[in-house]
Amino acid sequence: MISLKKKNKIVVDKLMDEYEKIIPKCPHFEKCGGCLFQNIDYKNQILLKEKLIESLITKKTNKIFDNEIKKEFLEIIEGIDLKIKDSKKEFRYRTKIEMVCNNDQIGFREKNKFDSVVDIKDCYLFDEKTFKKFLEIKKDIIESIKEFPFYDLKKHNGFLRYIIIRKGYQTDEDMITFVTNGYIENFWRIIDKSQKIFNQVSWLINTTYSDVAKGEEFFSSGNIKEKIGENIYSISNSSFFQSNSFVTKDIYDDIKHFSKGQVIDLFGGTSTIGLYVAKKDEVSEVLTVDILKENIEIAQLNKEENKDSKVKLLLKDAKDFFREEHQYDTLIIDPPRTGLEKKLVKKILSKKINRFIYMSCNFATFLDDIEYIIIYRKEFLQDKKIKINFFKAYDMFPQTPHFETLCVIDFI
Ligand SMILES: C[S@@+](CC[C@H](N)C(=O)[O-])C[C@H]1O[C@@H](n2cnc3c(N)ncnc32)[C@H](O)[C@@H]1O
Repeated sequence: MISLKKKNKIVVDKLMDEYEKIIPKCPHFEKCGGCLFQNIDYKNQILLKEKLIESLITKKTNKIFDNEIKKEFLEIIEGIDLKIKDSKKEFRYRTKIEMVCNNDQIGFREKNKFDSVVDIKDCYLFDEKTFKKFLEIKKDIIESIKEFPFYDLKKHNGFLRYIIIRKGYQTDEDMITFVTNGYIENFWRIIDKSQKIFNQVSWLINTTYSDVAKGEEFFSSGNIKEKIGENIYSISNSSFFQSNSFVTKDIYDDIKHFSKGQVIDLFGGTSTIGLYVAKKDEVSEVLTVDILKENIEIAQLNKEENKDSKVKLLLKDAKDFFREEHQYDTLIIDPPRTGLEKKLVKKILSKKINRFIYMSCNFATFLDDIEYIIIYRKEFLQDKKIKINFFKAYDMFPQTPHFETLCVIDFI
């Protein structure tokens, strides 16, 4: 799960003090680093996040030293609506959880500790039925712990590293994935049992020192599916999928509303956005660009499944994409938490696209990018002004301090 930067954590801790505390549902709340807000009533969580947005804007404004840029930044930001749209589901919404196997425990990392794991009996952010299936497998694994010892990061020995479970809530399909350090023949016993319980099962091998829930695919029984609106999407053991499909539909409907003409779906993952907006008559063509082969492969399946002829797919680093000549009407951007950063903003602006639809899961880096857009607009689009046509925040991650935003920026 996404962690907070230290400085932002201090701001969040201060804001949390302002709200009355309730008894959290989850017995792991005090120890587990997963959901910080479970002891705050959901309505207050929304109010808290709205205040967090305000404080991030103030913090960013104070860091802009050029008075002209600051003035323009404030003019742009002042017009936006800071209300957060709530999630239809407060609990049990996550499409994926990654559990660490460490020190005979399987679960999430302990709050503020990176070398200790809280053994999880349930996770209120994840589907109950699928979690119960995992508990059956967990029992077998714990009983066989001598045979399949858990990985020790410091000594780089042991076998089982991560267990990932994924869920398609609209299709009721689920998948379990094991990440191991190497191969043990008898582990097929666990894989076979899992295949009787879960819709799909995968085994990834990661013998590197890098502590990630990823690896080379050694076995996969197949993908699961999830629906967003009318579209059906495949999810593999390694492909990207938005964390909360219930909120994702609201965001994609808004993105679709503002998309027109020739569209680039940059950081497009498995083309979930590209294929969604392609359903609109006013959209003539979509190009989905992503850096990961596993995402583009799933995007190809998604294109076939949704019988789409408007979407083209391109495996490419966004930085290299903008070296080439293209003409587009709408640019959809859904970058990782690091945002676009200075260099890419410059490259994108040089292409003189009149509409940006910016979906972000990190409001702080989104604000940094707005500053870069103001700075480089002068260089590339002197005669055009920046207009925020639409801004909305969505509670994609209830019980946690995180949220998603969507901003439509027009250059007029
Ligand atoms: C937040 S996800 C958005 C995915 C997509 N919109 C979806 O919903 O499926 C960010 C995506 O950016 C991709 N990515 C990260 N760095 C990239 C780069 N330099 N160039 C192109 N894609 C990149 C990742 O592989 C990931 O799929």
